[in-house]
Amino acid sequence: MSKKMNLTLKVWRQSKEDAKGHFETYAVKDVDEDASFLEMLDVLNETLLKKGKDPIAFSHDCREGICGTCGAVVNGEAHGPRDETTLCQLHMRSFNDGDEVVLEPFRSRALPIVKDLVVERSSFDRIIQAGGYVSVRTGSSPDANSIPIPKKDSDDAFDAAQCIGCAACVAACPNASAMLFMSAKVSHLSLLPQGQPEKKKRVLSMVDQMEKEGFGACSNEYQCEAACPKGISVKYIARMNREFLAASISSEE
Ligand code: FES
Repeated sequence: MSKKMNLTLKVWRQSKEDAKGHFETYAVKDVDEDASFLEMLDVLNETLLKKGKDPIAFSHDCREGICGTCGAVVNGEAHGPRDETTLCQLHMRSFNDGDEVVLEPFRSRALPIVKDLVVERSSFDRIIQAGGYVSVRTGSSPDANSIPIPKKDSDDAFDAAQCIGCAACVAACPNASAMLFMSAKVSHLSLLPQGQPEKKKRVLSMVDQMEKEGFGACSNEYQCEAACPKGISVKYIARMNREFLAASISSEE
């Protein structure tokens, strides 16, 4: 039988982007250790609604760790204490009875707070719009399968393509840099033959857009890799930097 636990939750409450935020404390009782973190918030919100209080706003969609919609900083760690785990996949058994849990939104100038724990990630969408796609015809499935791709390139592209765009890398970085996200998106396309025609333009446009959005620069803190729920390696940042340099030099020729 699963155990129950009592927690003290300190949650960042902020009514809108330009409002002053503050922490509110909630006593959460009889939490099932097998409940997910978001289920625990659902139960808390039901009790708040019954008391006529404003429920805590938080983002979620798939609750399966694949969409990248959820995310908050739990006790100072983006997505909480478990490695390679999104907030929706975090279970209450990762905490102890009597724990105090502090919950904050991902904080970055480029990810403005919409309400409470919800941040706006449209800056990520604009970076993708700047070049994170292929506009060449890839053909139907049999045609695509007929293009030989070295195993290593294919594995690296798939590893990079695991990025779900949750922005934990930004929240974890002391510079609020989006380089891990960017490098995963740039790499998963440029490692494959279909991504070659737009390779140079892509990296230049996406880096330019990232800077316009106000994300910081990378100073090799590696916090992004530690926080990434998909285990994306910082090697992709080094790879993107090489790609950016090559594209910058050849575009000046
Ligand atoms: S809700 Fe989709 S990854 Fe968490």
